[in-house]
Amino acid sequence: MNIQRIGIIMNGVTGRMGTNQHLLRSIKAIIDQGGIRVSDDLTLMPDPVLTGRSGSKLAALAKRAGVEKWTTDLESVMADPDYPVFFDASGTLFRARFVEMAVAAGKSVYCEKPTAVETSEALRLARLCEDAGLKNGVVQDKLWLPGLRKFKMIREQGFFGRILSVRGEFGYWVFTGHHTDQPAQRPSWNYRQEDGGGIIVDMLCHWRYVIDHLFGPVKAVSCTGAIHIPERIDEQGRPYACTADDSAYAMFECEDDVVCQFNSSWNTRVRRDDLLTMQVDGTHGSALVGLRKCWVQSLAETPRPVWNPDIDSPLDFYAGWQEVPDATHYDNAFKVQWELFLRHVALDEPFPYTLREGAKGVQLAELGLQSWRERRWLDVGDLEG
Ligand SMILES: NC(=O)c1ccc[n+]([C@@H]2O[C@H](COP(=O)([O-])OP(=O)(O)OC[C@H]3O[C@@H](n4cnc5c(N)ncnc54)[C@H](O)[C@@H]3O)[C@@H](O)[C@H]2O)c1
Repeated sequence: MNIQRIGIIMNGVTGRMGTNQHLLRSIKAIIDQGGIRVSDDLTLMPDPVLTGRSGSKLAALAKRAGVEKWTTDLESVMADPDYPVFFDASGTLFRARFVEMAVAAGKSVYCEKPTAVETSEALRLARLCEDAGLKNGVVQDKLWLPGLRKFKMIREQGFFGRILSVRGEFGYWVFTGHHTDQPAQRPSWNYRQEDGGGIIVDMLCHWRYVIDHLFGPVKAVSCTGAIHIPERIDEQGRPYACTADDSAYAMFECEDDVVCQFNSSWNTRVRRDDLLTMQVDGTHGSALVGLRKCWVQSLAETPRPVWNPDIDSPLDFYAGWQEVPDATHYDNAFKVQWELFLRHVALDEPFPYTLREGAKGVQLAELGLQSWRERRWLDVGDLEG
C-alpha cells in the first residue's frame, strides 16, 4: 500500500467553521480513519499545517486536534512545495488576499463560501485560478446532507412526477447578547455589512447551488431583507449597531417553472422538523426535506381535507408521511466534499464545485440585495468573463 501525503495549509481555522467542520470533523476525521483509500494500492493522507494570526490560539487548536504543525508565518509555508493545497476559512473579506497569495504560489485553492461579497470580485478570483491552471473549489456542503441526498435519490427515481414548488424555511433564534446568561451564538461580524455580514450574502450563496442542483437552474429572484434587530452585543460585551440584514424573504423562479420560496432568519424560533426544512410539492408526491431526514407523502396517501375551523381537525396531517430510510452511511457533509477535493487534486477526478460555481452564489446574493433595494424581480443571467 502506497501512502500519498498531501500537505494542506489550513488558514483561519481557529474560527467556528474552520475548527469544527474543516479541521476536526473533516481533516482530522480523515486522518483518524487512516486516510482516503482510493484503491487497493493507494491511500491519500492529508498533512495539515494550521496558519493564522494568533500563535497561542493556533497552538491550542493544534493540541486539541492532535495536529503537529502550525505557524503564524504564512509566507514561508506558502513558499514550501511540500504544501500543494491552500484552504481558507477566514472571514469573507480577507479571502481575496489569501487566494491571490495562494495563486501566486501555485497552490490548489479550496475555500469557504462566499468567496467575495461582489460577483465581479468572486469572478476575478475564479479567473485568477483558471488562468494559472490551478485546481480550485468552494465549499457547497449542503449538497451532502443526508436529507438532501435522500431527496435527490427519490427524485431521480421519479417519485414526484413534475415538481411544482419548494418552500424552504431556514433559521433559528440568534441571541442578541442583551440578556443575562444568553450570549450570542454567532460572530458579531455576521450582523455588520462593513465586515462582510448579512444573511442574504450568507444564505443565498447556499440556496443557489441547492436550487440549481436539486430543482433546476435559477432564472429570476425577488428578495426582501430586513434588519429586524438594530442592536446586538459583541464578543467584548459592547453594544454595536447592526448594519446588515438578519432576515431574508426570497422567491426564485427556476427553469421548468418551479417556484422556490426561501425564508432565512436569525430571528425566528423553531417549530418545525429541523433548522432547515424544504417542502417540495410535485404532481405525484411531496417531500419534507430536513438536514438528516426526509419524509414523503405519495399521491395515493394524500388526505382529502375539508375546511372547517369550527372543530378540531379530524385529520392528523403528520400521520400520512413516511420517512425515507437510510440508503447508505452518510458521512459529515464537509468531509465528503473534502475527500472529493483531495481526490481531484491527487488523481484528477472531476470536481465541479469550482470558484466559478461559487461566484454564481455570490451573484444570486448580490441580485437579492439589489432586488430588496429596488423592490423588484431581477433576472439571473449567465456569468460572463
Ligand atoms: N459553509 C457554511 O455553511 C458556512 C457557515 C458559516 C460560515 N461560513 C463561512 O466561513 C467563513 C468563516 O466564518 P466563521 O463563522 O467561522 O467566522 P469566525 O469569525 O468564527 O472565524 C473567522 C476566522 O478567521 C480568522 N481571521 C480573521 N482575519 C484573519 C486574517 N487576516 N488572517 C487569518 N485569519 C483571520 C479569525 O481569527 C477567525 O478564526 C466565512 O467566510 C463564512 O461566510 C460558511
